[in-house]
Amino acid sequence: MSSKEPIASGPTRRRFVGAAALAALSPAMAPSVARGAQPETVTQQTGEPADHAVPGFGPAPGVALLSRNENPYGPSEKAVAAGCSATAQGAFYADRSLLYLVDMIAEKNRIPRDFISISAGSGEGLCAAAQSWTRDGGAIAAPSLFWDTTVRYAERQGAKLVTAPMKSDLSIDLNALEKIVTNNVSLVHITNPNNPTGMLLDPEELRAFILKVEGRATVLIDEAYNELTADPDGSSMIDLVREGKNVIVSRTFSKIYGMAGLRVGYLMARTDLTARIRSNIMSWISGPGLAAAIASYDDEAFLADSKSQIIEGREMVVDAAQSLGLRTLPSQTNFVFVDVKNDANAFRDEMRRRDIHIRGAYHGLPSWSRVSMGRLDDLKRYVAAMPAALGG
Ligand SMILES: Cc1ncc(COP(=O)(O)O)c(C=O)c1O
Repeated sequence: MSSKEPIASGPTRRRFVGAAALAALSPAMAPSVARGAQPETVTQQTGEPADHAVPGFGPAPGVALLSRNENPYGPSEKAVAAGCSATAQGAFYADRSLLYLVDMIAEKNRIPRDFISISAGSGEGLCAAAQSWTRDGGAIAAPSLFWDTTVRYAERQGAKLVTAPMKSDLSIDLNALEKIVTNNVSLVHITNPNNPTGMLLDPEELRAFILKVEGRATVLIDEAYNELTADPDGSSMIDLVREGKNVIVSRTFSKIYGMAGLRVGYLMARTDLTARIRSNIMSWISGPGLAAAIASYDDEAFLADSKSQIIEGREMVVDAAQSLGLRTLPSQTNFVFVDVKNDANAFRDEMRRRDIHIRGAYHGLPSWSRVSMGRLDDLKRYVAAMPAALGG
């Protein structure tokens, strides 16, 4: 725990948020949460005494948390209210509600229910797929730069990863990737838009690539940031899932929905692939997370608001970087990859001295630095600190 985080006094029962206190958090009280005003304690949300708050949730006071691609504009007001009332029902396993969410996802994506696996964040489903597809010795093929956390998990269980070089503009080279999809590859993993670049592949090129290789290996498209792209429907590969191709598409409530801490994600694939994923998923979803997901899934007003604030922040960061003569990659996500033309780790450290948390260098890219779209005020601090941090 950071020394800056509040320490609740005394190990009494009152330190912990009671279900009644949470249930009292009505939508009317919640706007400051949904708007990202960042209440530091439950007191500010519920009016309950301060010692009901538990420490350690959200950024530490004074910290601009811009390192983890979270979305501070969520959860939506409806999600907060639903999550709180589900907490009051926390004595019971959440089962029927899981089916509600499955139905909603099925309807929106026009796929059968048995094409859907719900997991604790998309990360769990991605781990399940990576592990299952490589258990018999098959390798995973991926670009050399991608969000590799779940593949690394499978590697630790003995899986092999083969990678294809990026293009010189740091976009994914589908021709190079196709060449490494040999007989021993069982899963091709593509993050689209990619993390940390934020760049989106041309949908027609990606579709053609998938149709070429899906006879050889299952293709997994991680669409964690899809809803933040300019044309979410046009850039998704869900149509190939619908057609029953050998494809998995993953999505999450952690990004546009602003629910990273509530841990809900889902993978969509034809029945046989889904059965395999489901049988490798280890956890049961938490009721409050599930309730929040159901309450916000179709909340178009919230989603539009969330997206527009993220885009406003992104434009501000891109403008600031460019005015300092720095190159940025064209992001369709809630983060920007900036070439700071300097040691990205030193830049990160300088920012950190100012309580601004960003990512350091990525392997093989010592001058590239990723910054996530936090609240506008936090991004203003980042922008204002840039000249000094670059010179530091
Ligand atoms: C591309 C990508 N996929 C998946 C995830 C995992 O998200 P979650 O497990 O919270 O759904 C992340 C998290 O940053 C990500 O960047």
